[in-house]
Amino acid sequence: MDQNRTPLLDAIVEYTEKRPAYFKIPGHRYERGISPRWTKWTGEGIFRFDLTEAEGLDDLHCPEGVIREAQELAAEVFCAKKTYFLVNGTTCGNEAMVMSCVGDGEEIMVPRNAHKSVLMGLILCGAKPVYLMPQIDEKTGLCGCITPQEVERGFKEHPGCKGVFLVNPTYYGVCSDIESISRVCHEHGALLLVDEAHGGHLYFNREKKGTGELPRGAILQGADMCAQSMHKVTGSLTQSSLLHVGSEQVDTGRLESNLHLVQSTSPSYLLMTSLDAARYELALHGDDMLAHTLELSQNARERINQIPGIKCYGREIIGQAVFDLDTTRLVISADSLGISGFDLADRLYEEFGVGLELSDEKHVVAIVTYANTMEDVDRLVTALEGISSDLNGRKREGNAQFSKPVLWDFSLPEYVLSPRTAYFSKKKKIKWEDAEGKIAGEALIPYPPGIPLINPGERINRQVWSYMERYRKMGLHFHGPEDKLLETIHIIEE
Ligand SMILES: Cc1ncc(COP(=O)(O)O)c(C=O)c1O
Repeated sequence: MDQNRTPLLDAIVEYTEKRPAYFKIPGHRYERGISPRWTKWTGEGIFRFDLTEAEGLDDLHCPEGVIREAQELAAEVFCAKKTYFLVNGTTCGNEAMVMSCVGDGEEIMVPRNAHKSVLMGLILCGAKPVYLMPQIDEKTGLCGCITPQEVERGFKEHPGCKGVFLVNPTYYGVCSDIESISRVCHEHGALLLVDEAHGGHLYFNREKKGTGELPRGAILQGADMCAQSMHKVTGSLTQSSLLHVGSEQVDTGRLESNLHLVQSTSPSYLLMTSLDAARYELALHGDDMLAHTLELSQNARERINQIPGIKCYGREIIGQAVFDLDTTRLVISADSLGISGFDLADRLYEEFGVGLELSDEKHVVAIVTYANTMEDVDRLVTALEGISSDLNGRKREGNAQFSKPVLWDFSLPEYVLSPRTAYFSKKKKIKWEDAEGKIAGEALIPYPPGIPLINPGERINRQVWSYMERYRKMGLHFHGPEDKLLETIHIIEE
């Protein structure tokens, strides 16, 4: 196909150039009706593209024209059999993948560190999760990969499992052996679904020097479906994602009905056009974009590792728990200085104006993309040098509030009800201090990274209660409960 084309973008430009008198939705009429208070900052241009299924602009829910062609171009770039534009993020992609694989009462394997969107998919379809515990890397405390052996074990214990859902790469760049796992899945007649929210760049730059080290994208390794947040690292607007189908085993009719269920009937043309434009850049310049990303991330990693007391992990952590690593992620620890990831992120932002993506008890994660500059890297490195030299590179006593990530020695809470049954069960609100031993009516998800400590339908045990209690007292951010202060929680009546 001609990857120089941008069919949706071209059609929308043509439409706006004609500038027909507009009596459709949206009501702001090109840029005319947008608040000047906003356009003062943005300029007017972009609002012209905020249109709907106007003449020549096709329809996402039944694409026959420019959207269809734009999706086909994307499928070619990602070596997929079929690709769908998503306007509700990988969140809706994960929901649709799960619903297209399992139905009410059926089983699907899901890693415990999956994003909460998987739980939403399970609530929608009524399937039962069989949790896979990721390996834990003893040296770093990072949540590692899911091994093919763990998946094999899952099939032995639950031979009826219809699918396996994986997150690859994780927020921390950790990758599993997708190729072997896809083989295991297919031997058992199950589908492999991959949440590749963070991995859109893994399809580029295979031949160029020094970059063959990156893991390959899931579709290239035999996954049946994957969803990618193009907005996270590959240049489209927030909320725009792609869902790729990689094999003939996927029932695309069922998938399309599910996509109707989880996406707006008024999909944003700004988002879809941004996908078309981002795909164009990747098709033409993806190799160079990734080479630049790797140059920056390697430079940052080498310099950070020279700072006393600060560590940025690289390929040396590959081993049993970490099958492969996306080295464009910078996972940084100042644990040797006695600084928790939470504190490090706060200091980097407040004292040095450096904003990172994620922090946990031990780490911060910086996402490097093609659009970063060496100046950004310099600012990050200088800030870390400043923090280290404040402490003369030595440990501050009694500062880190969490010694171990909870998932390190986390045993699964008792599973009592399926996520869907729990979601629709009668609940009552009780004091958080009385919650131990009760069946959770809502999830408890420290965010980021969005890993549920408890899911609705599971019994709140002492370990989970104590961890959340400390988390709550520290005033940290979590999702799930209606009461954001967690003074109360909904439990399921027994
Ligand atoms: C692993 C993972 N999966 C899915 C999502 C949801 O993606 P989106 O923001 O595109 O809806 C996220 C968001 O952070 C994520 O980290």
